[in-house]
Amino acid sequence: MRWSIRTQILLTLTAVLGFGLLASYIATSNVTRGAITEARVQQARNITALAAERFMGVRAEGLALAETLARVRPLVEPDHLFLLGPDLDPMADAPAQRAAFRQLVRPADLVPYYHRQTRHGFIKSLSGEPLLVVLAPVDSAPSRLGRSSRSKPAAVALLAPLEATIAEVDRIDNLYVLFMLVILAMAMLLGYVLLGRIVVQPIYDLIRSVERVGGGEFSSGIAESVATGEFSQLFGSFRKMTGQLLSDRQKIQRQISELEVANREIETAQERLIRTEKLASVGELAAGVAHEIGNPMAVLQGYLEMLADEGLPEETRREYVEQMQRSVTRISGIIRELLDFARPTEDAHGEGDATLAVRSAVKLCDPQKRFRDLEMACEGVEDTLPVALSTGRLEQVMLNLLFNAADASEPGQRIDVTVRPREDEVIIEVADQGHGIDDEGLRRIFDPFFTTKDPGQGTGLGLAVCYGIIQTCGGSMDVASRVGEGTTFTLVIPRASGI
Ligand SMILES: Nc1ncnc2c1ncn2[C@@H]1O[C@H](COP(=O)(O)OP(=O)(O)O)[C@@H](O)[C@H]1O
Ligand SMILES: [Mg+2]
Repeated sequence: MRWSIRTQILLTLTAVLGFGLLASYIATSNVTRGAITEARVQQARNITALAAERFMGVRAEGLALAETLARVRPLVEPDHLFLLGPDLDPMADAPAQRAAFRQLVRPADLVPYYHRQTRHGFIKSLSGEPLLVVLAPVDSAPSRLGRSSRSKPAAVALLAPLEATIAEVDRIDNLYVLFMLVILAMAMLLGYVLLGRIVVQPIYDLIRSVERVGGGEFSSGIAESVATGEFSQLFGSFRKMTGQLLSDRQKIQRQISELEVANREIETAQERLIRTEKLASVGELAAGVAHEIGNPMAVLQGYLEMLADEGLPEETRREYVEQMQRSVTRISGIIRELLDFARPTEDAHGEGDATLAVRSAVKLCDPQKRFRDLEMACEGVEDTLPVALSTGRLEQVMLNLLFNAADASEPGQRIDVTVRPREDEVIIEVADQGHGIDDEGLRRIFDPFFTTKDPGQGTGLGLAVCYGIIQTCGGSMDVASRVGEGTTFTLVIPRASGI
């Protein structure tokens, strides 16, 4: 069970206070009991001694004794006073009084007190009531029991029933218990009210404030509190902390919006760079294409001239036309691919097909002059492989890697392009057997404007742009190279669920 702090403090206080009061009750009760009993004994002894003195001068005749007894007796009521003979039996008394004595005690019960120095004690009456017994010898030198004259009084006995005294003590006890309960109740009530004001309310205020601040209400978050002392200090600190949090938050928000602006600017710049690099590739391609188109055009022209010959057999003429058609198809194919590539890609951040991108990049390179004497081998490009990068962008990356590889290669060397899926990624490798890259080159290879090519041949932007494109889709790009042996570029691109 979870108790509120108020209940816990109240229970603790009650336990401590209750324990204190109980201890004080036990002590007080014992002291009171002792004091009252002591006073009662003292009073009984005084009375008994006085009574004994009264009897000392009285002659031992029964009548005189009885008269004295009758006079003294009312003075000690409600206690019982008896004049005892040497056998400790009442004497000089009416039978009714003797009967009353016999109802209370047996003479034998009193024997110890006759001889004892203190001459008083507590016994149980014959009916079981607590009884105070006080004996006082009438003779200044009491004779031995049974030996002296039977008519001579031996002692005065006071038999005091203690019920009233005990009842009085119990009453005081009960009063004390009542008093304690009232004190306890008042302390709890006071504790409840004061605790509520001093401790509980500030804590609740604080909890409310913390919740509000936690919910983002910084300015109006802190509740007004009646807190004093350390609690008000705590509130002060909390207020200061909240103020600090608020200003930090505002600062962070400002920085976030600044970052957002910067990010947008970077994105725009990157887009621009990608477009620039693409245009450069288009330019390079176009140069190659112009050369590539030049050949079929020359072929076309040759056939056209030959067709002008009137006496050409019909079969040869048809063959020439077919050759010309093939050349035209080739020219228009090259132009279409070039246009396809030059067209801006709209699905820049979308998904694409890795194998399709690789295939079309290779196809674009195929008619290029710089690939003419090189062997190109593709592996794993048959099946569709969806990736988290648009086909157009990946094609642009591939094109740059292939161009670079061709530029680094000597005639007769091979370029291997491999595509393979691995768990959640697709790995694309472009490996050549070219001149390789030295350590300094490897360090700077992805830096913008790093190029080893002659002015007009390279911009040094290709790999930087490729790196940016691959990074944006959450992939990575790596290079491994040995000078004189070749270079391998590895792309790791996250897979996509499907196109
Ligand atoms: N496959 C490769 N083999 C050797 N060197 C390469 C290869 N790919 C790139 N490089 C080096 O990296 C440089 C930067 O390439 P890139 O960023 O594409 O710019 P550019 O091709 O315009 O020079 C190239 O100039 C070349 O020195
Ligand atoms: Mg390049």
